[in-house]
Amino acid sequence: MTRYWTDLARRLTPYVPGEQRGGANIVKLNTNENPYPPSPAVLNAIREVSGDTLRRYPDPDATALRESIAEYHGVQTEQVFVGNGSDEILAMAFMAFFTGDKPLQYPDISYSFYPVYCDLLNITSATVPLDEQYRLNLDSFTTDGGGIVFPNPNAPTAVDVELSAIQKLLSVARDQVVLVDEAYADFGATSAVELIDQHPNLLVSRTFSKGRSMAGMRLGVAIGDSNLISALKCVKDSFNSYPVDAIAQAAGIASLSDDDYYQHTIQQIIYTRTETVKLLEARNWKVLPSSANFVFASPADDNASAVFKYLSGEGILVRYWDRERLRKWLRISIGTDDEMSQFFAALDRFNAPK
Ligand SMILES: Cc1ncc(COP(=O)(O)O)c(C=O)c1O
Repeated sequence: MTRYWTDLARRLTPYVPGEQRGGANIVKLNTNENPYPPSPAVLNAIREVSGDTLRRYPDPDATALRESIAEYHGVQTEQVFVGNGSDEILAMAFMAFFTGDKPLQYPDISYSFYPVYCDLLNITSATVPLDEQYRLNLDSFTTDGGGIVFPNPNAPTAVDVELSAIQKLLSVARDQVVLVDEAYADFGATSAVELIDQHPNLLVSRTFSKGRSMAGMRLGVAIGDSNLISALKCVKDSFNSYPVDAIAQAAGIASLSDDDYYQHTIQQIIYTRTETVKLLEARNWKVLPSSANFVFASPADDNASAVFKYLSGEGILVRYWDRERLRKWLRISIGTDDEMSQFFAALDRFNAPK
């Protein structure tokens, strides 16, 4: 029943998040969550938040958190913006930079929230095809469009692009904002943050959800020229002055204070990823080179849909899209070694002679 809905609400096709099935025996490899908990420092900081802190509104500008992020990345506090997850930051950036007359450009295989925001915000868009190997060639973007957004590494392919290619794009696409979505950059891609001082058209979005194990907290970051950050603040203060609550602000600061912990868990995930790729290739799967905490892989028998259904029945959740160029592939998040063993045991049961 859409009787009271506006035309806008009626025509939306919302983003579909990965299934959040819970339960003791579920192995969740479908939403690229980190299999390890956040640092104990984060949990302590959350416990220490006082009633007095909660009674009050949080700092609308999250200044202390932005200072910590700026110090961590070697940038100025004015070059940092925070939001309720990087999804929210993407939405605000789309509002601030991409609602002009010319189309926003993004890869044809990419984060499926981009077209959803375009729909919501009435933004025209144009897609740029990945090549046969599912690589993104940044030369394919036109230099006079209405903006560019791409994830690095890309999702769901996990393939990254080199910093030199991004640098070249930024120089030739001077009149557009180039938004590099670095949700997964902690796992191997080179961050473009080091380019922000030379390129006033570069905005980098990052998140505490993946490398920092805080998807449940909802904390995202944008880093860019202070002029771009001011535009994001204008949008935020026209929508919700307090997107990052006091608990998330405290947890974010604590997370950055314990980097050794995260370097350790990230290295563990990279190690497990390497082992996972070897084991898939030993079963003749095709696996794209991954710089993320997931792999994009295609079963030898081209039966991704059947594998997906079987695994789901066994309580092993991975991601599958019944879409052109994607339907032969599965996106598998990297879990703990034990979770990956369960994944391979189920896969081998599926492949065992019946
Ligand atoms: C490419 C990409 N960007 C952004 C996000 C959003 O992350 P979050 O809102 O948790 O920061 C995701 C989440 O999976 C993602 O895959």
